Amino acid sequence: MSEAVHVSAHPLVRHKLALLRSTTTEPKKFRELVREIAQLLFYEATQDLALAPLTVQTPLASAEGHEVAERVGLIPILRAGLGMSEAIIEILPTVHVWHLGLYRDHETLQPVTYYNKLPNQPDIDLSLVVDPMLATGGSAIAAVDILKRWGSKRIKFLGLIAAPEGVQALSTAHPDVAIHLAAIDTHLNELGYIVPGLGDAGDRQFGTG
Ligand code: PRP
Ligand code: URA
Repeated sequence: MSEAVHVSAHPLVRHKLALLRSTTTEPKKFRELVREIAQLLFYEATQDLALAPLTVQTPLASAEGHEVAERVGLIPILRAGLGMSEAIIEILPTVHVWHLGLYRDHETLQPVTYYNKLPNQPDIDLSLVVDPMLATGGSAIAAVDILKRWGSKRIKFLGLIAAPEGVQALSTAHPDVAIHLAAIDTHLNELGYIVPGLGDAGDRQFGTG
């Protein structure tokens, strides 16, 4: 596995992932688990964020501290990336959120872009693409293509479950993009679903399907 691919070994991630997969988990609990796992993965994926020194006043004295010195952009792929981005904003409220609308054509499995309001110039140092599922990799590759054309230099992908096929495709197309995941499953089925996976991540979050 490439050094750029990180699969969390954290016990809490593993515990919550099993609950997320289960068919007995209803949308309210499913959304809660997506949020919690996204926060844990975000924590792991941002160990290398640049810091700047900062002095604050406590009730007793002044204290030397730090603040995040990078402008972090969060790029949720609609719709399923929304739950992850809402969770991440809670722990880093300074993130800039730029939504990208992509869906997979059911016949061809090719990504179709339907929403992109990125400003003319990149206003961020690190782009974090968030989408729970990395299946064929087509959507993630298309999102990274868009961000690179936009001028984004440092990009990471944060997902919950991947198929080996998707990891391979994204790593080959964009070897400079670090991939952070909770799990890599066994394979894609003939309909392009990750097995064992969790089904359709958008439908399970939003009670559709
Ligand atoms: C899902 C998922 C990814 C994409 C992954 O979205 O959230 O965006 O499929 O598949 P890929 O790696 O083969 O491209 P979907 O197209 O179902 O759209 P939705 O989130 O609006 O339901
Ligand atoms: N999108 C999903 O939501 N689930 C999969 O298994 C594959 C793509």
